[in-house]
Amino acid sequence: MKKLLAFAITVVLIATCLVGCGGSDSKDDNKLETVTEGKLTMATNAEFPPYEFYEGEKVVGIDAEVAEKIAEKLGLELEIADVSFDSIIPGVQSGKYDMGMAGMTVTDERKRSVNFSDSYATGIQSVIVKEDSPIKSIDDLDGKKIGVQTATTGDIYASDDYGEDNVKRFENGAAAVAALTANKVDCVIIDNEPAKAYVEANKGLKILDTEYAVEDYAICFSKDSEELQKKVNDALNELKKDGSIQKIVDKYINAD
Ligand code: ARG
Repeated sequence: MKKLLAFAITVVLIATCLVGCGGSDSKDDNKLETVTEGKLTMATNAEFPPYEFYEGEKVVGIDAEVAEKIAEKLGLELEIADVSFDSIIPGVQSGKYDMGMAGMTVTDERKRSVNFSDSYATGIQSVIVKEDSPIKSIDDLDGKKIGVQTATTGDIYASDDYGEDNVKRFENGAAAVAALTANKVDCVIIDNEPAKAYVEANKGLKILDTEYAVEDYAICFSKDSEELQKKVNDALNELKKDGSIQKIVDKYINAD
């Protein structure tokens, strides 16, 4: 009888443990694994108005606000890491950041290193010149000194089309535009919305009518973060559907 009781207790204990362990396991399964628990760490390069730029100490802009809403939906706190543009993809790949969101264009080359969400915006590569520039259209770019932000699609396309020797790389768009103003380069190739912001902020510049390239912006992830990618993508699509993204875009772009 004693033996039977001991056996019964053992069974109950084992069963309790199994249920207990199983329970906590499934709880962990539901929790989204991120670089820092409870946080969604986004790498960006906050020199790219109106997508990401500083307002005082704070990074604001379309990407920052959309990411904020995504984090909210996932029950995470958004943390923004402002890094150089060319270290976003390596940082995402190595698991330093959960995602990269930086007005980043989807390209086949980048797709070899990272996965992309669905696209949430369209970008256009534009050409900024001085108002009195002899460059009237993109057909006049041959042999000209072209300023770009390092590792952006503007850099990649211009280097391909006009040769590396004609391309001058800068840490950010503002530095490239400053070089244009100082006659150190003949034009700057950069995404259209930042181009507009720079032309507005600097006298004597204009954007050529002809567009250099049209592209899609998306969020990038490590190829190992498929679950996070799916959750972020679902959130992104919900925000597209309910008009939240449009509202944010209007606030920064169309409303002025
Ligand atoms: N769309 C371009 C690219 O993907 C430029 C993006 C630059 N973004 C930034 N936050 N500085 O290459």
